[in-house]
Amino acid sequence: MAFSLQPWISQHLQQVESALSQWLGPHAPPGSAWPAPEDLNSAMRYAVLDGGKRLRPLLVLAAFEAVQGRPATASDQAPLRAACAVELIHAYSLVHDDMPCMDNDVLRRGKPTVHVQFGQAGALLAGDALQTLAFEVLTPLDGSVDPAVQARLCGLLARASGRVGMAGGQAIDLASVGRSLTEDSLRHMHQLKTGALLQASVMMGAACAQPAAHAAQALEAFGQAIGLAFQVVDDVLDVTADSATLGKTAGKDADNDKPTYVALMGLERSRAYAAALAEQAHAALRETGLPDTAALVALADMVIHRVH
Ligand code: IPE
Ligand code: IPE
Ligand code: MG
Ligand code: MG
Ligand code: MG
Repeated sequence: MAFSLQPWISQHLQQVESALSQWLGPHAPPGSAWPAPEDLNSAMRYAVLDGGKRLRPLLVLAAFEAVQGRPATASDQAPLRAACAVELIHAYSLVHDDMPCMDNDVLRRGKPTVHVQFGQAGALLAGDALQTLAFEVLTPLDGSVDPAVQARLCGLLARASGRVGMAGGQAIDLASVGRSLTEDSLRHMHQLKTGALLQASVMMGAACAQPAAHAAQALEAFGQAIGLAFQVVDDVLDVTADSATLGKTAGKDADNDKPTYVALMGLERSRAYAAALAEQAHAALRETGLPDTAALVALADMVIHRVH
């Protein structure tokens, strides 16, 4: 039977949205006698809930299903926790990315950015606390996730977020304003600032199901290809889409004098490059030898064909 992505997404999004909302609830978090300060918790909820495509959590769940051969059930805590953790890191990266000291943006996910709504210190702290919440989510104290899996997930997420991952890529991005990069340097920057977390999403989902080595390796290559493709398409959309559709300010890269694929190679070649990366992603999936990768195939296509 042909795979239909929309019902698959709706069903999985429901799980993710409800888990995120619970994690960010106003009650005292597990292991604490005190609730979080109200302003901080509101800023965190504002940053994470009501918006976003949730592509990273969907990749986690799709990779888990591809390796495990079935969807996660209530007793599989690890994939849902991994899905939420990666979205928390992503949301934190967006909060900081929008701050005046970085991209200085006022619109995100169709709403005023977190620093506009809660002030710069509020945004800084919300980002900090979202980052650490991701690791709390990955390390439950109730024995529901095997400690070896917890450690593996924390390691993957930490490396993808840190100095040789998202934060490292953001540092290169800021240091490159007004400069024209070589194609190699631009690819490196995009792989770090955006690709690493998308790749980690795939690997974390797979890690919850303990894949064979060759499948893990092919999924890593899949994640790398779609991770880079995602940012190439982001660069294209910044030029071709409008702010209302994007839910963020269009034309911001040129305004901020950022090195992008569009600046380096123009729109048509950037689109062709994204399509070539999607082809690489499909080939990597075939290489996994896994019987059912339909959701991953469809998500890879969504990365390329998305309009926001
Ligand atoms: C935007 O990511 C930031 C980049 C890494 C390019 P998304 O396009 O996934 O943003 P949301 O989560 O849907 O808002
Ligand atoms: C941001 O890249 C990547 C992050 C790590 C958040 P961009 O600066 O291009 O993301 P947008 O376009 O603001 O979403
Ligand atoms: Mg940026
Ligand atoms: Mg930005
Ligand atoms: Mg962008």
